[in-house]
Amino acid sequence: MTLPKQLQGLRIPVVGAPLFIISNPKLVIAQCTSGVVGAMPALNARPAEQLDEWLAEITETLAAWDRQHPDRPAAPYAINQIVHKSNDRLEHDMQVCAKYKVPVVITSLGARTDVNDAVHAWGGIVLHDIINNFFAKKAVEKGADGLIAVAAGAGGHAGVKSPFALIQEIREWFDGPLLLSGSISTGGGVLAAQAMGADLAYIGSAFIATDEARASDAYKQAIVEGTSDDIVYSSLFTGVHGNYLKASIKNAGLDPDNLPESDPTKMNFGGGEGSKKAWKDIWGCGQGIAAVKAVVPTAALIDRLATEYGQARARVGA
Ligand SMILES: Cc1cc2nc3c(=O)[nH]c(=O)nc-3n(C[C@H](O)[C@H](O)[C@H](O)COP(=O)(O)O)c2cc1C
Repeated sequence: MTLPKQLQGLRIPVVGAPLFIISNPKLVIAQCTSGVVGAMPALNARPAEQLDEWLAEITETLAAWDRQHPDRPAAPYAINQIVHKSNDRLEHDMQVCAKYKVPVVITSLGARTDVNDAVHAWGGIVLHDIINNFFAKKAVEKGADGLIAVAAGAGGHAGVKSPFALIQEIREWFDGPLLLSGSISTGGGVLAAQAMGADLAYIGSAFIATDEARASDAYKQAIVEGTSDDIVYSSLFTGVHGNYLKASIKNAGLDPDNLPESDPTKMNFGGGEGSKKAWKDIWGCGQGIAAVKAVVPTAALIDRLATEYGQARARVGA
């Protein structure tokens, strides 16, 4: 199956994953003008009215870029909607997305036919993130155009499946757009995702250590210095299992190696400040950060990925 036009013609097959609190218009614009899809959670705009301003800024800046660089137009952008019942902003945020005809909507934590229909009505596509084959089937049944397989080792909420198992199971029945996420932070990793059957790589944590990311210097530095040994998988902070930097858990006065369990009733993704506080103090992060050696401009990170991707293709081809 050919990819929808929104995912074609990228410099490298990469989508910058949405990062709660951290993604902002500057990061999205830098990702898109560097040739990969940039993404941001709608909930990062606070108060809710700010979403309109942010989408205006992204739309106008990318259009201006295209006028000035007709030979290398910007990649499309994506907005992430948390489709969970606790997200009391969903209706408002969807209306703003409709106004700007957002090209790609990424839905998380529940697939909904009405959301998919609304995006299709304005000509957008929906990518839904899942952690297993069961949820993948449900998402496609409800009208998602593509899937994001969130494998073990991904930053933020993550599953426990090997990417090899997950991609293989989904590819047995789904020939639509398939993205892979979890610890990808090199161009070789991007090519590996394609080799195992995904169309694109979905990269989050590596973008935290960029100039544009809205994260503290201490957080960015912890990613530069960290490796997979510095990551812990826990459900304590949001009610859903995810990967976090141990250092931030120690800073909060907890023992990262002895954390109590929580459960999904604790999930809360709304306009309130509760979930925001948890993510500000406890730093979400995937296992793939050893490849991140410095805080750099987003354009430089994408240059590195593109160079490595070319080298990996040459190496495998040879
Ligand atoms: C700090 C942080 C915040 C995240 N916030 C969101 C979010 O708001 N919505 C979402 O769909 N995924 C979120 N994710 C998950 C990413 O979109 C993506 O699946 C993940 O970062 C990919 O794995 P990687 O970090 O190993 O590259 C977050 C991840 C991190 C690290």
